[in-house]
Amino acid sequence: MTAPVSHTDLHVDLPQLTDLLAPRSPVWTPNELRGLVAAARASLSAPLLDILRFASPNRWWTRLALTEEVELWLLSWLPGQGTAPHDHGGAAGAFSVLLGSLAETYRYPSGPIRNQLHVSGSALGFGSGRAHQVQNLGPPRAASIHAYSPPLVPTREYASLRDVPAEIPPLPARRSLAELRLEPVEP
Ligand SMILES: [Fe+2]
Repeated sequence: MTAPVSHTDLHVDLPQLTDLLAPRSPVWTPNELRGLVAAARASLSAPLLDILRFASPNRWWTRLALTEEVELWLLSWLPGQGTAPHDHGGAAGAFSVLLGSLAETYRYPSGPIRNQLHVSGSALGFGSGRAHQVQNLGPPRAASIHAYSPPLVPTREYASLRDVPAEIPPLPARRSLAELRLEPVEP
């Protein structure tokens, strides 16, 4: 089944995403999000590599898709580039590594801080409790595909993963695509 065009904003060079983003539920599970980023990587790596750019000092990114249920992004990471420690404001997420590898330091509420290396081809889905910091420790350049549901929930940044509070904020009310389009376009 194909998603109604009016409920999906797609990157102009990726009409193939339509089927992967067919509506299923207001909030996708971590497993469903992992399936989305893994399928995008497996079936669209050539067009994604055509779109991919690198930038410094700020990281490059582009939004691949936005629906009322999910958002999908392509991000690049030069050696040394990374995020601040952050959570996802109550959203679930997933990412798949398209190029290179990404080092992740993560923590679940009240849990220990752990490290995980994500290599090209890997894909991870995670629930709302996972706070993390993601970095390209290089030297190869890296790129990754990220999905979140519900879409455009503001992330919360911290000086340290030790500062992440135990409580996970409630999810915002479902917003229409027209309302979501009013938000800034940033991952
Ligand atoms: Fe994140």
